[in-house]
Amino acid sequence: MADSEGASGRRRFLTWFLGTSAGALMAAIAYPVARFVSPPEVPEASTNQVEAGPTNDPELLEKGFKIVRFGADPVILVRVSETEYRAFAGTCTHLDCIVEFQKDKQRIWCNCHNGDYNLHGQVVAGPPPKPLEPFKVDLVFKGSGQPQTIVVSRA
Ligand code: FES
Repeated sequence: MADSEGASGRRRFLTWFLGTSAGALMAAIAYPVARFVSPPEVPEASTNQVEAGPTNDPELLEKGFKIVRFGADPVILVRVSETEYRAFAGTCTHLDCIVEFQKDKQRIWCNCHNGDYNLHGQVVAGPPPKPLEPFKVDLVFKGSGQPQTIVVSRA
């Protein structure tokens, strides 16, 4: 009789032990898979303003433009003259290629399908269906002897 109760107790323990082990194993496998398949939503930080560097930036002086990160998006900053800068969304409105500035032709150009924009972001040639989104550019004085800082913000 005592043997039977002992065997029954061991059986219950074994059943419980295997059941919880299998459950823990399943959870250890399922949880990472579930996290991978459905990652938590991370809110995209909204950017309204970025500093694009000093006015004497060698890249700007040499090429007449540079691509600036505006949050996750590229923005093209164009040096029109010593005191005038313009900025537009850096992706072409046709198929989202990154645009560049052609200093000699004074145009914003997309080399993917030869899209052409003027210095107001308006389409002048090629397949882009709409103008580039304009951004606001301000020059900020940081102190005497310092070059001005270019600040790009949403228009
Ligand atoms: S992606 Fe720019 S012209 Fe096609």
